[in-house]
Amino acid sequence: MTEKPVRLDICIIAAMTPSGVIGRSGTLPWRMPSDLQRFRHLTLGHSVVMGYKTFAEIIARRGAPLTERINYVVTNHHVDQVRQSGATPLRTLYGGVADTWLNAKEYYIIGGRSLYEEALSRADRMLLTIIEADVVGDVYFPTIDYSQWHLVRETEITRFDPRDEHPSRFKEYERIKR
Ligand SMILES: NC(=O)c1ccc[n+]([C@@H]2O[C@H](COP(=O)([O-])OP(=O)(O)OC[C@H]3O[C@@H](n4cnc5c(N)ncnc54)[C@H](OP(=O)(O)O)[C@@H]3O)[C@@H](O)[C@H]2O)c1
Repeated sequence: MTEKPVRLDICIIAAMTPSGVIGRSGTLPWRMPSDLQRFRHLTLGHSVVMGYKTFAEIIARRGAPLTERINYVVTNHHVDQVRQSGATPLRTLYGGVADTWLNAKEYYIIGGRSLYEEALSRADRMLLTIIEADVVGDVYFPTIDYSQWHLVRETEITRFDPRDEHPSRFKEYERIKR
């Protein structure tokens, strides 16, 4: 019997300024607890896929991979370190995930730039937090071709958490099926 191909739902999740800044000096250039909470809530119980630098930042900040999620790390040079942490190394973004995690229905591409760039042409959904601030950074989200995307929902968040440094808005996109 031929196995039915698994339909993967690929979702990009990112926070960026209006000019596209996503990072600075290997970390997030803002303090936005409400966005980290939303990220946790959305990704909990799912697979998350990240580049090695994003993984290294998570380990530096938390001491361990993200809990209650299956952590995949795309890397060619740090396979042993990733394995030792309990996360799963992948040599490539898509091939690896499809082969390794056949039962997954949904997985979240959580950065950084190189992974977003690769994922943009194939992702089904995009969850973007726009941080309403002019923040200096050294890593940018790749250019989005908005003709490919339909804005499903937009929510304004006015300092939902008093510790948030900036106001933000949350935008949910779906790929336009042609
Ligand atoms: N604002 C946000 O939502 C958000 C989200 C995530 C990250 N960030 C920020 O973004 C910055 C990190 O992003 P980044 O783009 O510099 O790095 P990254 O994508 O996290 O990691 C890059 C590394 O991942 C591996 N890699 C990536 N793509 C690969 C591929 N296709 N095949 C094989 N290996 C691949 C390589 O590591 P090896 O050398 O080990 O092979 C590469 O050096 C940080 O500042 C972080 O805080 C922001």
